[in-house]
Amino acid sequence: MTRGLIIVVTAFLCQLLVSNSQQDCPSGQQLHGYLRQVHKLLSNHETAYLKSVRSLKRKLTLLQKAQLNARNYSRNITACPEPEPLANGRMLGSVFRVGHEVHFLCSPGFELLGSETRVCLNSLRWSGQQPACTRVDTGINNDASPLVTMSSVSLPASPPPPASVSTFVRPSRCIEFMGSTHCTCEPGYSVYSQDKSLCTDIDECEVFPLTQPGRLCLHLCVNTAGGFYCDCPSGYNLSRDGRNCQDVDECANGMHNCTQEQVCVNTFGGHNCIDIVCPPFRKATYIKTSPLRCERNPCVMGDETCLQAPLSVTYHFMSVVSNMSAPRVLFRISAARILGDTIRFGLLKNRGAQQFAVQKSGRQTGQLVLMNPVQGPATLDAEVEMTELERKAQLGRYITKVRLFVSPYSF
Ligand SMILES: *[C@@H]1O[C@H](CO)[C@@H](O)[C@H](O)[C@H]1NC(C)=O
Ligand SMILES: *[C@@H]1O[C@H](CO)[C@@H](O)[C@H](O)[C@H]1NC(C)=O
Ligand SMILES: *[C@@H]1O[C@H](CO)[C@@H](O)[C@H](O)[C@H]1NC(C)=O
Ligand SMILES: *[C@@H]1O[C@H](CO)[C@@H](O)[C@H](O)[C@H]1NC(C)=O
Ligand SMILES: *[C@@H]1O[C@H](CO)[C@@H](O)[C@H](O)[C@H]1NC(C)=O
Repeated sequence: MTRGLIIVVTAFLCQLLVSNSQQDCPSGQQLHGYLRQVHKLLSNHETAYLKSVRSLKRKLTLLQKAQLNARNYSRNITACPEPEPLANGRMLGSVFRVGHEVHFLCSPGFELLGSETRVCLNSLRWSGQQPACTRVDTGINNDASPLVTMSSVSLPASPPPPASVSTFVRPSRCIEFMGSTHCTCEPGYSVYSQDKSLCTDIDECEVFPLTQPGRLCLHLCVNTAGGFYCDCPSGYNLSRDGRNCQDVDECANGMHNCTQEQVCVNTFGGHNCIDIVCPPFRKATYIKTSPLRCERNPCVMGDETCLQAPLSVTYHFMSVVSNMSAPRVLFRISAARILGDTIRFGLLKNRGAQQFAVQKSGRQTGQLVLMNPVQGPATLDAEVEMTELERKAQLGRYITKVRLFVSPYSF
């Protein structure tokens, strides 16, 4: 079936070729011949390939054997006897030749007595005394926190680590072949320059500092034995990628203590519970018409002072990150309906007012602009006043109180 198909296709191709080259088309028998040749060619290739794989395997086996021999040979003539295993502890270092060191490390809760480091001497004996691990009996919790462990460990850059051997130092895996040693380490470790039989932890956090592009973490990088992890400030969760920080919306997930009357405002890294109290204006009274809005009660006829008071006071809360680029428009205010012939927007004096500017951005629209980047943490307030005029007489005033919560972080 398959062959039949191939022939059909080939024949079709042939006809195409013929129309171009004006040659005779091969017969069915000739086609069979071609196919047989192609098949033979392919199987020759396959055989050659298998042969080279087999030869490669053979070479590898030979290499391994040579390596083992070399190790046995070198041990015989220049090596110290294998040190006794350490109960309740571990030995680091697997090369026992003259001049090499081994290190001893006790399990948590045990203390090392004897030599922490022993060197294979020319006399083919180990220096120092065989160490032992004895139990320590303190009420103190022996679990060192990762941060403490980290700070007590010397990194590859600084000289010999043996005094503080820990899981930040591990034995390397070495092969000796034709007189040279090649050592490798587990992922996250690199061969210690002063003793190839040891691997020292790679401090990924130092290799990729937070202040440079290619950093590993957005906020905090914690080096661990053989790895690292990222951490975030409180109020943030580590995002799914394990490197970035995501603000936790305490207002949305119910992790806040705000009362029913308060307004919960989520900020980057926290939240605020805010009491909205309608402001006092002389001779005017206000009523809350929504959680974020106060409206003036009707004035007594002819009470000019009351009539000059704002018709409404609206509250607006915004949360931004630190050092946000500026100038930038924070928000726009529009008059819903126009009664007068002119609308004016203005910034009332307030805390942080020098950071803001108010601009008219349309016939009935004004915008609040943040003029300079703000370093958090900070809370800035601004009041924007919108005034409606009719033939230069004031028809109404509306006030928008803006509070800007600036995060301590740039996220
Ligand atoms: C190398 O020595 C080990 C024991 O130390 C032995 O089991 C192994 O067979 C030796 N290898 C060779 C290739 O002689
Ligand atoms: C190494 O020691 C083994 C036994 O441990 C021995 O059979 C072998 O001959 C020694 N090789 C050398 C080169 O001394
Ligand atoms: C943040 O983490 C906490 C606890 O680890 C979890 O309860 C909460 O749902 C997380 N929030 C988000 C937004 O992922
Ligand atoms: C809420 O209140 C409780 C008790 O008053 C307090 O322990 C907790 O820290 C508060 N939580 C927040 C998010 O403020
Ligand atoms: C703020 O941002 C600018 C550029 O966006 C940057 O050069 C500057 O270092 C930042 N400052 C701080 C304190 O993060």
